[in-house]
Amino acid sequence: MNILLTGGAGYIGSHVALSLLDSGNDITIIDNLITGNKEILPKNINFYNCNINNKKKIKEIIQSSQFDILMHFAGYIKVEESVYQPEKYFENNTKNAISLFETCLENNLNNIIFSSTAAIYGNPKNNNPITENVILEPLNPYGESKMRTEKYLLANNDKFNSIILRYFNVAGADSQLRTGLISDEATHLIKIISEVAVGKRSKILIYGNDYQTLDGTALRDYIHVSDLADIHVEAAKYLLKNKQTNVFNCGYGKGYSVLEVINEANNITGNKIKFEFSKRRRGDAEKLVADVNKINKYIKWQPRYNNLKKIIESSINWEKKINEKNL
Ligand code: UFG
Repeated sequence: MNILLTGGAGYIGSHVALSLLDSGNDITIIDNLITGNKEILPKNINFYNCNINNKKKIKEIIQSSQFDILMHFAGYIKVEESVYQPEKYFENNTKNAISLFETCLENNLNNIIFSSTAAIYGNPKNNNPITENVILEPLNPYGESKMRTEKYLLANNDKFNSIILRYFNVAGADSQLRTGLISDEATHLIKIISEVAVGKRSKILIYGNDYQTLDGTALRDYIHVSDLADIHVEAAKYLLKNKQTNVFNCGYGKGYSVLEVINEANNITGNKIKFEFSKRRRGDAEKLVADVNKINKYIKWQPRYNNLKKIIESSINWEKKINEKNL
């Protein structure tokens, strides 16, 4: 397959780029390097430093090759930031994404894989794992911005064949440490734990211990980024075969509480992860666990890293590496 990727210098995009290359596909990456990092771009690929709303440049790029699919990763991803700067999220994650899709369509590229998020579900009413067809009620502008883009693709399913992948909590790093999460102001749980593990921070704050969960801390479905990357490769094959719009949750279907994650990290590090309880973070849901029946039914996918220990270990190993390299 010949894939055009936006956001390939970002966390998830760079892992997908590697999975595509490792399985013998051709890729071209577009990234404006605002949150992406050149250091984690795969070597020897076509790369364009370009914004997704630059219609003229994107047109040239699409016309330069016969792409099978656009995979669109470029986007802002910080839930709390989105609460304070909603416009930044609607501008980039919705308006610019739609402009990109229109440019693709104008140039006969109408197969799209879109990175969406479990944040669009908000706080689901019942305690069951979340299926793709529940009512969408995002709690924050980040989730809202992704939901609006999904709606555009779904409403235009006569023009586009798209696969919308709703990521649950993505964590971990490439087993060969070719890439991982780089963030100047980390907000994600396992990233912050990793920073504590390597001494970059002294402790982690647990946001809320008054949730209706077993230990009072919030529950999430953590999926290893390399498994998520493999899902994209299989979803791409599925899309080219079936040429139909569809939506899939991406997770393992099992929830861990914040305390459980910290305890596992303490087992790995010999109790290096000091923590304190703090108040709830704005925009946070209580429990987000995926119902994965649909993706397991349609997409040929075998998880390789469905193990919290492996996820945390790879994340800490990556943190050590970037600490040494000063990234
Ligand atoms: N948390 C802490 N302390 C921290 C950081 C996080 O207690 O220092 C808690 C959060 O309050 C939350 C859990 O750890 O309960 C996970 O938080 P993350 O920031 O790691 O992830 P989120 O669940 O907020 O959001 C992530 C992605 C979203 C996605 C969502 C889906 O950023 O894109 O997972 O579950 F939608």
